[in-house]
Amino acid sequence: MIAIENLTKRFGQFTAVDDLSFTVKSGEVVGFLGPNGAGKSTTMKMITGFLAPTSGHISVFGYNPQTHSLKAKTLMGYLPEGAPCYGDMTPIKFLRFIGEVRGFRGAELTQRVRAVVMSLQLGSVLNQPIETLSKGFKRRVGLAQAIIHDPQVLVLDEPTDGLDPNQKHEVRRLIRNLSKDKIVIVSTHILEEVTAVCTRAMIIADGKLLVDETPAELEARSRYHGAIRLELSHANHALEQLKKLEDVASVTQSSDGGMLTVFPKDGASLFLPINALLQKNNWEVHEFHVEKGRLDEVFRTITKGVKAQGVKVNG
Ligand SMILES: Nc1ncnc2c1ncn2[C@@H]1O[C@H](COP(=O)(O)OP(=O)(O)O)[C@@H](O)[C@H]1O
Ligand SMILES: [Mg+2]
Repeated sequence: MIAIENLTKRFGQFTAVDDLSFTVKSGEVVGFLGPNGAGKSTTMKMITGFLAPTSGHISVFGYNPQTHSLKAKTLMGYLPEGAPCYGDMTPIKFLRFIGEVRGFRGAELTQRVRAVVMSLQLGSVLNQPIETLSKGFKRRVGLAQAIIHDPQVLVLDEPTDGLDPNQKHEVRRLIRNLSKDKIVIVSTHILEEVTAVCTRAMIIADGKLLVDETPAELEARSRYHGAIRLELSHANHALEQLKKLEDVASVTQSSDGGMLTVFPKDGASLFLPINALLQKNNWEVHEFHVEKGRLDEVFRTITKGVKAQGVKVNG
C-alpha cells in the first residue's frame, strides 16, 4: 500500500502541498480533484520520486521513493502532466526503449510492447514520429509506457486532459479494466471522471486535503441529492400540491414554468409520494428524473473561500 504522512512541499516561501496524510490500498482508484494550482501534480511528483518532499514521509509498499528510488519506481507507472514523450522517436521505438529501461529483453520485450500497442490501439501509428501524432495518440503512447511493466501502482496526471469525448471514454475504460488489484491515483479537474472511474475522491485545494470519501458520499452532500425533476402539464397546479407533501422541503420552478424541481427534507425519499400524486391527478408527465446530486455544486461549496487559480467544473 501507499502511506503518506504529513507530506509538505514548499517552493521558497510558498507552500504547494500542506501536511497531507492518507493511505491507499490495493484495488483502490483514487481521484485527486481540485482547482488548478491545488498541488495535485506536485503531490504526484513526490509519490513517484521525481520531487523531494520538504518534510513528511512517503512509503510505497515499504519503499521510500527518495532513498529507495529504483525499488519504488519499479513498482510504479507514471503518466506525468502533459504526457511528455520523446517527440522524434516513433511509438514502436519509444515503447521498446521504455521496455528495455524496465528490464525486458528479447521475446518478452516484444510481447510486452505488443500487448500495450493492442490495448491502447496504437497499431496504425507505430512508425510515425510521436511529435506528429494527434493529442489523443500522444496521450495513449504516454499511457502505454506507464503500463508496459504491469505496475502495482499507477499514477496518472490528468490522463484525459484535452482528449475528445470518445478518447476520454476509452481512457476511462482502460483505467477501470486495469484497476482490479492495483493502486491507481488519477488527477483530474473533470468532475464526472470521478464518478466514472474512482472508488474514492480526494478534494485538494491550496495544498490541503479537504475531503476524502466515495463519489456517492460526495454526491450525497449536494442540495440536489434525491431531488426530483419533473416536466409535466398543469405545472402551476402541481407546484401547489407538491409543496403540501410531508417530505418535501421546497419546490422550484423553471423560468418558463414547465419544469419543477422538488427538494426532499433531509434523508427523505420522494419517489413514491410524488408518483402517487401524479397518478391520482392524472397529469401528463414528460420527464421524471431523480437527481443523484451535483458534483459541481459540492465542489464549489467545498473549495469556496479557498483561493483558486481558475476552476473548471464541466470538463
Ligand atoms: N517548481 C516549482 N516552483 C515554484 N512553484 C511551483 C513549482 N511547481 C509548482 N509550483 C506551484 O505550486 C502550486 C501547485 O502546483 P501543482 O501541483 O502543479 O497544482 P495542480 O497540479 O493541482 O494544478 C502552484 O501554485 C504552482 O504554481
Ligand atoms: Mg497539475
